[in-house]
Amino acid sequence: MCGIVGYIGNQDAKEILLKGLEKLEYRGYDSAGIAIRNEEGIKVFKEKGRIAELREKVDGDVEAKTGIGHTRWATHGKPSVINAHPHTSTSGRFTLVHNGVIENYEEVRTEFIKDVQLTSQTDTEIIVHLIEHFSNEGLSTEDAFTKVLKTIHGSYAIALLDSEESETIYVAKHKSPLLVGLGDDFNVVASDAMAMLQVTDQFVELNDEEIVIVTKDNVTIKTLDGETINRDPYTAEIDADDIEKGTYAHFMLKEINEQPAVMRKIIQNYQDDEGQLKIDRNISEAVKEADRVYIIACGTSYHAGLVGKEYLEKWAQIPTEVHVASEFSYNMPLLSEKPLFIFISQSGETADSRAVLVNIKEKGYKSLTITNVQGSTLSREANFTMLLHAGPEIAVASTKAYTAQIAVLSILAQVAARDNNIDTNVDLMPELAKVTTAMSAIIDDADRMEEIAREYLSETRNAFFIGRSMDYHVSLEGSLKLKEISYIQAEGFAGGELKHGTIALIEEGTPVLALATQENVNLSIRGNVQEVEARGAKACIISSEGLEKEEDTYVLPHVHELLTPLVSVVAYQLISYYAALHRDCDVDKPRNLAKSVTVE
Ligand code: F6R
Repeated sequence: MCGIVGYIGNQDAKEILLKGLEKLEYRGYDSAGIAIRNEEGIKVFKEKGRIAELREKVDGDVEAKTGIGHTRWATHGKPSVINAHPHTSTSGRFTLVHNGVIENYEEVRTEFIKDVQLTSQTDTEIIVHLIEHFSNEGLSTEDAFTKVLKTIHGSYAIALLDSEESETIYVAKHKSPLLVGLGDDFNVVASDAMAMLQVTDQFVELNDEEIVIVTKDNVTIKTLDGETINRDPYTAEIDADDIEKGTYAHFMLKEINEQPAVMRKIIQNYQDDEGQLKIDRNISEAVKEADRVYIIACGTSYHAGLVGKEYLEKWAQIPTEVHVASEFSYNMPLLSEKPLFIFISQSGETADSRAVLVNIKEKGYKSLTITNVQGSTLSREANFTMLLHAGPEIAVASTKAYTAQIAVLSILAQVAARDNNIDTNVDLMPELAKVTTAMSAIIDDADRMEEIAREYLSETRNAFFIGRSMDYHVSLEGSLKLKEISYIQAEGFAGGELKHGTIALIEEGTPVLALATQENVNLSIRGNVQEVEARGAKACIISSEGLEKEEDTYVLPHVHELLTPLVSVVAYQLISYYAALHRDCDVDKPRNLAKSVTVE
């Protein structure tokens, strides 16, 4: 949610900043801007819309060796050139970019800078004027910036240029992600290592309550009390090819297609030389000690949590609750005596989930983060981490992270069952291997998915997804996938629930997509299909081999019944993808959304 880049060195900063912003565009894409500094001072270019539009606006002839950039997902102030970052102080001396939300910006304005004429509707502009205000009181830029960081509340990642100091970029973060990248004769700043892999793979993590002074030869990290901190860099293990689309038309299609390979990677990473399931001993101990698991997540990750609960309860016999993070923060249920919190987050940066983590840490509870991003905030702040090994997920709509989350949760639950001497009758790794083959078969059937999308979804304004038990969880995810990228109003329901109200919405031709992969509810879900068909619905039944009937639209390959979400969802991902394509939607960057939601 908003992306930041910075460069200071010997090369032309413009191109490095623009390329970096292109890699961060998934974090927000309603407007963008860069500020570059050369002998003539700081020059700012901003544009509404995508980075491609900004690129057209940037004057190719201006050269500069230092600069900062930003791609925006609007919070305060609508998307416009004026509200786009960078923002500049009244005198023009200070220019900055910001990711996050300043909660006390009204108070700050009234207390310190009420006479300053604001030009935008953003909370960010307050920060740059406040730096100038403290600087005008006689403080050095470093001291003025530090004082600002002690004054503002909320979330932020900031990169700041001072036109009187050509050799420096000042940066700081609180709750929002920010890294410094190291090079020979240059250094860079980025919200995500991906943005700067073009020039380096060496990065230094930054912590909250720090101020960082970046020059071309040095990176100095200090606490807000002025104490210098030494921190070693790490190597970002991302293959540059992983962040390119390659021959695929969209990142979403690429990521759907990568799912069998991700399954294989998970199998490799979570088994020992004898082929036995293997997870960190400390994690299995923590699960063993817990009397209840609380899964906390948002969106698609929440939907993966619903499936994970089934594994933890059915296999490991551990009572498990799944909560939407933004609700849990402010309306916490009565907790058990020895809870274990599991945070599921592709990005590891989601602010709603982090708010819960901060809260439960204060209460002294243990936490495990299941994430795709090593070193992400939720990973660093939880006691334990399990990685998804899914590779960068760039399309805004999550696909391979969802299936990776479910696979990792299945492994966790199986290990917990083994530790508690529970025989689940499931040999998980071979079962996951079957899933891998089934996923590939559906991906190979992409043409059929396209036909289904065309037949059921090309004209409609709304669609319903129904299923029971495991299929209900996947119906929620299928409907989210369809609505977020195609803008069809799609809702997921428990099959038995429609008749309690929602069936009123069924009209002649309304598409109802039903999953039938669970033996014990096969007849009941088919009964629900008949109820909607009797009211004019156009039903698309997707069943599993062994449970199929003549009227079914598509039959999924057979896998273990509890692992069907890993397979049925692939069909829904592809159907959603093609439905969005048929409607000319921007599949990878749907309107109003951004990946990595770092505001609450
Ligand atoms: C939907 C989607 C979102 C995310 C949600 C949580 O396709 O991607 O619903 O799942 O914003 O994000 P993470 O998993 O990064 O915490």
